Amino acid sequence: MHIITTISEMHDIVMDAHAERVGIGFVPTMGSLHGGHAELIKLSSMRHSLTVVSVFVNPLQFGPSEDFGSYPRNLDADVRMIRDHGGTHVFAPSAEEMYPQGFATSIHIEGIAKVLEGASRPGHFDGVATVVCKLFNTVMPTEAFFGQKDYQQTLVVRQMVADLAMPIAINVVPTVREPDGLAKSSRNAYLNVEERNRATSLFRALSGAKKFISNQVTPLQGRKTISRSEIEAEMLSALQDVRIEYAVAVDANTLESRDFYYSGEKIALLIAAFAGTTRLIDNIVTDIV
Ligand code: PAF
Repeated sequence: MHIITTISEMHDIVMDAHAERVGIGFVPTMGSLHGGHAELIKLSSMRHSLTVVSVFVNPLQFGPSEDFGSYPRNLDADVRMIRDHGGTHVFAPSAEEMYPQGFATSIHIEGIAKVLEGASRPGHFDGVATVVCKLFNTVMPTEAFFGQKDYQQTLVVRQMVADLAMPIAINVVPTVREPDGLAKSSRNAYLNVEERNRATSLFRALSGAKKFISNQVTPLQGRKTISRSEIEAEMLSALQDVRIEYAVAVDANTLESRDFYYSGEKIALLIAAFAGTTRLIDNIVTDIV
């Protein structure tokens, strides 16, 4: 297991790999790794002989009143988890290595990055896109792996990769859940027992809405038609004892909200809500059949 802290050392390794035509799998993380990250690392290591996992809590993607200072950090445990799941290299740079004095560039994405998380957390996706771009330029991966839990982030990264012609395949891996449905997240560590119980209502709301959609009857002639407000009401009624920021049914590709959805369309059900002071997000993507 190699632990690399500088961009130049990482470049030497990945340039050699490219010269030898070895594919590079990449899993960008902010550390505090859990079972969701383990799936990404496992999948990457099955597909590539070299798997780089970055561990970097990126200050640019946190708002001034967010949890940058308290975000859980444990590099030793992360390195063990990466090694145990087949990662070959850890890239763990300092903030000075990533953003040295005089750093002045920001990647800004319009459209898909402006709604939902983008609206609730101004500047968040600029910070994500900037760090992911720099990490991609450092690791030069063939394929990068992201968890579906951060659904909008996956769309933002895909948009950046397409717009800037980055030769990197983006692989989005299904959310890993606890037995009661709660999506695995580093931030779950903030929840006390009571908040942890309340947090399960996110998955209940999403699965209830998905069931509601599949239970709608398709007319003998014509397409199934489902009203957005009914889907969203279904989610809202199941969200108990959490402070809801949004609970929406949107087009899964564009995140646009329409009044009605029809058979043949793919929609994303997205929730952001607080259990106590912890902000949680979760989603389910479903085809209307
Ligand atoms: O999903 C995350 O953990 C972060 O947003 C990422 C992609 C590692 C960028 O800091």
